[in-house]
Amino acid sequence: MAQEYRKREQKEIESQGQKSQAEHLLRQLTLDEKISMIHGAELFRTAPVERLGIPALAMSDGPMGVRQEFEPDAWKSIGGHDDYVTYLPCNSALAATWNRDLAKAVGKTLGREARGRGKDVILGPGVNIKRSPLCGRNFEYFSEDPFLTKELAVPYIQGVQEWDVAACVKHFAANNQETQRLWVDVKVDEKALREIYLPAFHDAVTKGGAYTIMAAYNKLQGEHCYYSDFLLNQVLRKEWGYEGVVISDWGGVHDTVKAANSSLDIEMSVTEDFDQYYMANPLKQMIAEGKVPESAVDEKVAHILMLMQRLHMLGGERKRGAYNTPEHRQAALEAARESVVLLKNKAGRLPLSPEKTKEILVVGENADMQHALGGGSAEIKALYEITPLMGIKALLGGNAKVTYVKGYCQDPQEEGEDRDVNWQEDSLEHGGGFARAQKREDAALALCRRRLREEAVARAKEFEQVIFIGGLNHFYDSEGNDRVDMRLPYEQDLLIEGLLEANPNTVVIMAGGSPVEMGKWVDKADSLIWSWYGGMEGGKALAEVIFGETNPSGKLPESFYKTHKDCSAHAWGEFAGARQVDYAEGVFVGYRYLDAYGGEPEFCFGHGLSYTSFEYERAELFLEGGKTYLGCQISNQGNRAGKETVQVYLAPMERLEGEPVQQLKGFEKVFLEAGERKTVKVEMEGYRQGMEVRVGSSSRDIRLQLSGCF
Ligand code: BGC
Repeated sequence: MAQEYRKREQKEIESQGQKSQAEHLLRQLTLDEKISMIHGAELFRTAPVERLGIPALAMSDGPMGVRQEFEPDAWKSIGGHDDYVTYLPCNSALAATWNRDLAKAVGKTLGREARGRGKDVILGPGVNIKRSPLCGRNFEYFSEDPFLTKELAVPYIQGVQEWDVAACVKHFAANNQETQRLWVDVKVDEKALREIYLPAFHDAVTKGGAYTIMAAYNKLQGEHCYYSDFLLNQVLRKEWGYEGVVISDWGGVHDTVKAANSSLDIEMSVTEDFDQYYMANPLKQMIAEGKVPESAVDEKVAHILMLMQRLHMLGGERKRGAYNTPEHRQAALEAARESVVLLKNKAGRLPLSPEKTKEILVVGENADMQHALGGGSAEIKALYEITPLMGIKALLGGNAKVTYVKGYCQDPQEEGEDRDVNWQEDSLEHGGGFARAQKREDAALALCRRRLREEAVARAKEFEQVIFIGGLNHFYDSEGNDRVDMRLPYEQDLLIEGLLEANPNTVVIMAGGSPVEMGKWVDKADSLIWSWYGGMEGGKALAEVIFGETNPSGKLPESFYKTHKDCSAHAWGEFAGARQVDYAEGVFVGYRYLDAYGGEPEFCFGHGLSYTSFEYERAELFLEGGKTYLGCQISNQGNRAGKETVQVYLAPMERLEGEPVQQLKGFEKVFLEAGERKTVKVEMEGYRQGMEVRVGSSSRDIRLQLSGCF
């Protein structure tokens, strides 16, 4: 207690010190100088005030690494070779690890690389809730569950900020679709907002201490988030006591007076007329006309100066950072390994034996595709990216013959679109995003796909072992567009059915940032793996799982619906509304909806198999230091070491109207040697008497239940 107190006191003193230095600087700044600090003077930078030694604030995307350098005033890569970086697994992949230590390690890597590249603010992590599987940016987000999201976002942010770089948690708030994201008005009740959509932001700023936060593009209850009094003043500043910097999303401000009088601190945008930004010359004009008080600008500048102090930008020793180090690549690999989810493994078909594999057929465009430089602002100019095919070949070595056929192909027209660097500037024109329908009718393309498919199916008969690697790519998992359904693109269903018929030994692997329909073939596939955008080492990590060098331990951070229609945003609410979108499902998002209203997912929240099996025993509840814990014993029943995530769901015994059946409120990932038994202690959030405690390996594989008292 005394230690806690002293820590708080120290923080208070530091913050007072920072405030007085900031106040001193503020008093010396002219209005012009102050205004220059609160809007972009380049696409990713504010202006410095050299006279007073105040540097510019350098920002960069994004969650999977530090983005390439652009011209200061054009969305054009500078084309250098010094901005290749460590490419980290996407946030969905990180969420699938259910591993707080890995989240911290990934955050640290990102922070160190950002500092190494001379950045002050890294625009991530994205902590929006996956309300629908169709949102194009889901790969940048963690989960459908607020608890899992915040438990991983907090160490991630702390890791980033260890390197004197600010995390910018985004997009605050209820930015759950890309369609018309600049104008769509989200209607959501306050209960759902506070229980589902806000908790990750709350913890990101209060526990993670995120120095900056990005206001979302969309409107919330009729007000744009960049000036929302409810969101920014009432919730963020007053309730959560936030003293950090609020940055607009790029091009998300639409009115000078509203922006100036709100809690927004910095306006960033996508065009090069920097002096004409709402918080630039037009603001000066409004101040001259007496429509905005100068004190509004002072408040913003004070926040920015405090941020600069926290980052040691105004004196003191600042960390140097580094990029492309071997440790960073190791962090990317470790996270990728634990992100791979083994969805099915009938009759223990996996892992394959590297020694016995002499010949193998690999099919599918995703086996040989690199994804780093796609997806929107999260794109990464990766130092390298190991594809699954390279991972498999490197693991098997030269004595095995690996034959690769494509089997299906992307529409060549999509590739151009994917790589277009000007999309960000153009994006303001069509409301910031749209729904992307599948499939262009094109006879030549259809013929080409049929040939590829026939070739692959014919070859599959000749091989003892086939591996199919398909799924999505950043044409679909991308900022600026949502999917219209969950169907697999490029006629992959036909191909997979053909392969499984030709060779039941086909291992099916899906890569992507959000689930796809699998109903046409899932029952016929004995073994099925889900991998994500796994970063630069993703292909190696996947190969290690296929051949048993890594025992898979990933768990789904979201429900894998059979079709999008089984998701509450579509069944009850609206997705993706263009002008207004009604979150009529309230708190019943993801498994909360499936559990309460009887839906059967293809694979449930929290699901993920291992090559070994775990037994759960002896659950008990106990109190320690004012916190409630679930204790249980877990033992590894197999002959292989492995990791298991013990998940704790709290279920009210008498469920009130509008209350979920069960909610994830604790988890711990544990490593167990073959045959080992361990006692696991899981802290639970929000436990109260009258709740049933369910302990299990997934939301639907509950092994122990406890009701009652200590
Ligand atoms: C995105 C943000 C991103 C910003 C800067 C916007 O289009 O919504 O997430 O950080 O651009 O690139």
